[in-house]
Amino acid sequence: MATMRLDKYLARSLQLSRSAARALIRSGEVEVEGLPCRHADAAVAASAVIRYQGRCLSSPQEAPGYWMLHKPASYLSATRDDHQPTVVDLLPVHLRAGLQVAGRLDKDSTGLLLLTSDGAWSHRLRRPGRHSKVYLLHLAEDVTAAMLQAWLQGVDLHADGLARALAVEGLDARCVRMTIDEGRYHQVRRMCAAVGNHVLSLHREQVAGIRLDPDLAPGQWRPLSLEEIACVDT
Ligand code: URA
Repeated sequence: MATMRLDKYLARSLQLSRSAARALIRSGEVEVEGLPCRHADAAVAASAVIRYQGRCLSSPQEAPGYWMLHKPASYLSATRDDHQPTVVDLLPVHLRAGLQVAGRLDKDSTGLLLLTSDGAWSHRLRRPGRHSKVYLLHLAEDVTAAMLQAWLQGVDLHADGLARALAVEGLDARCVRMTIDEGRYHQVRRMCAAVGNHVLSLHREQVAGIRLDPDLAPGQWRPLSLEEIACVDT
């Protein structure tokens, strides 16, 4: 990082929105190298001494953030919504800037959700056919051998064409673990409906090589490890 705008520096250093950072600058309480500065677009060096209300701010982190969240039911996989809670509301305010959801879950679905401010990583993760996702499903009807076979051979999602499971494991009469490598709209629910069954609960256990951390209760989150970040191919 050579230089950046003062409002960006403050936003990152204090984990604020850009407009909140500009309000601080307008207040006249921000100093750059000992002098008050009211210019949001002032170029400041990473090494500059920036103070707010006399407190010296630390240089902002340029590195993007990568988080895993145990998504509870009833939260939208979105970064903002005027009426309903979103998954981003579960993270502290200072981590929310620039975050995007890397592969959505339906509002009623639970389990592993990845969030990042690295747009390229998120894009790579969501490319069809590149990364598998594993879901634990509870179904309304008993799972028959014909259903298992149909999922593996491919079921017709009409305008969306054929959708195939890479693997399906029957765990008990109405519970299966299904692996797919695409992410079409409501894909798993529609694959179940296509064979005459109905999903009662859908929980994502794994995406690429990243498994939901069993220590995370619903609503809890943690940063990804470097190993987990590297599970998404380049
Ligand atoms: N497929 C679905 O139908 N719903 C999800 O939440 C994820 C995959």
